Amino acid sequence: MIGKTEIRESLPSDVALIEKLYPSAFPDEDLLPLVMELLKEEPIVLSLVGIADKDLVGHVVLTTCSIAGGTDKVALLGPLAVAPARQRQGIGSAIVRAALQRLKNAGMSQVYVLGDPAYYKRFGFEPDDGVTPPYPLPEEWRGAWQSFSLRSSKPHLHGKLSVPQPWRQHALWAP
Ligand SMILES: CC(C)(COP(=O)(O)OP(=O)(O)OC[C@H]1O[C@@H](n2cnc3c(N)ncnc32)[C@H](O)[C@@H]1OP(=O)(O)O)[C@@H](O)C(=O)NCCC(=O)NCCS
Repeated sequence: MIGKTEIRESLPSDVALIEKLYPSAFPDEDLLPLVMELLKEEPIVLSLVGIADKDLVGHVVLTTCSIAGGTDKVALLGPLAVAPARQRQGIGSAIVRAALQRLKNAGMSQVYVLGDPAYYKRFGFEPDDGVTPPYPLPEEWRGAWQSFSLRSSKPHLHGKLSVPQPWRQHALWAP
C-alpha cells in the first residue's frame, strides 16, 4: 500500500512528468498530443494530478463541453492515467472522485466518459443514450459511452455532445 495521495491541479512544472506518464500508461496508444493540446485550453479544462510519496503518479483531464441546443454545463472526463507501478492502489479512484467533486462544486450537471464500464460503474457512471458522442461509435463501444449525474435528480439531456477542437478527431472515437 502507498501513503496518502494528494490530488491537486497540475502546474506548468508537472508537464515533463505528464509527458512521461502517458506513454508508460498507454504503451499502445499515443494520447500525449491530445493531452498537450487540452492543457492549452486552460479556462475550459480541469487538469488534476495525483502525487504520492512526492511522485506524480496519476493525471486526469476534464473538459467543459456543451450539448447542442442546450444550456447545461457538462464535462468530458479523459484521458485518465496512473503510472503502471502505482496501478490498483486506489489512485485512479481517488483522482476520479476528486474530479467529480470539483465539477459538482463548479455547477456542472453531468459528466461523460468513453471508457470501460467495468471501471467507471464503481463511481456511478451509467450507459447514456440521451446524449450522443461527437462521432458515432462502433456498435461494440456503445456501452462504453457513459454519464454521471452531479445533481440529486438526473437531468434528462438529449443531443450531441459538442467538444472543443482537441477532441474533434474521429480517431479518438474509434477503435
Ligand atoms: C484505468 C486506470 C486509470 C485505473 O487506475 P488505478 O489507480 O489502477 O485504479 P484503482 O486502484 O482506483 O482501481 C482499481 C480497480 O480498477 C480495476 N481496473 C483497473 N484498470 C481497469 C481497466 N482498464 N478496466 C477495468 N477495470 C480496471 C482493477 O481491476 C481494480 O478493481 P477492483 O477494485 O475490483 O480490484 C489505470 O489502471 C491506468 O492508467 N490504466 C492504463 C490506462 C488506461 O487504460 N486508462 C483508461 C482510462 S481512459
